[in-house]
Amino acid sequence: MKTLQVVSLTLLYVLAVNAQAISSGKCPQPSVQQDFDPTRYMGRWYEIMKIPNSFQLGECCQATYALSNGIVLVRNDELLANGTVSFIEGTATITDPSEPAKLQVSFFEGAASPYWVLATDYDKYTLVYSCTQFGVVRVEFSWIMSRDRTLPKETVSELLDILNGNGINTVMFTETDQRPELCSSVH
Ligand SMILES: *[C@@H]1O[C@H](CO)[C@@H](O)[C@H](O)[C@H]1NC(C)=O
Repeated sequence: MKTLQVVSLTLLYVLAVNAQAISSGKCPQPSVQQDFDPTRYMGRWYEIMKIPNSFQLGECCQATYALSNGIVLVRNDELLANGTVSFIEGTATITDPSEPAKLQVSFFEGAASPYWVLATDYDKYTLVYSCTQFGVVRVEFSWIMSRDRTLPKETVSELLDILNGNGINTVMFTETDQRPELCSSVH
């Protein structure tokens, strides 16, 4: 029962503040990065675009991943509108070794979300997708991240094409401000 309560509270929270990521219908099952290598994926990624969500309201968003005893330590940093740098820490795990690109990420005990790496070259870009089914609706998140604070727009459009090709709507994507003069306080 406790799990159900957490799920429904999470759903209410998501519905209340994050209506843009909700749609009806089943989660798509996009193909993921083949032969995903977690070791090469570790390190710093800068967010270039995302589907807006309720837990990242700032700019200069970045993720830092480190492998430790088979789990991924996650740290997300961002610059809030009032100038404060805020961060959150969590963990990610590969639940099925035969599908290493399908991770589960957790920032709060008892609540995990999918983190699927749809496409990455490890050195420049990654495309991450997350979809959770709540009865007849689904909640979707997605991020395009880069090893640098910029990513060529041809690469961005190729990654958006991958989403579109899998039936994932990309109209909600917004750009993240990564101007160095704004983001210099986020390390
Ligand atoms: C900035 O905003 C965050 C989130 O609303 C808040 O927690 C923090 O205390 C604020 N910091 C300052 C210096 O106003």
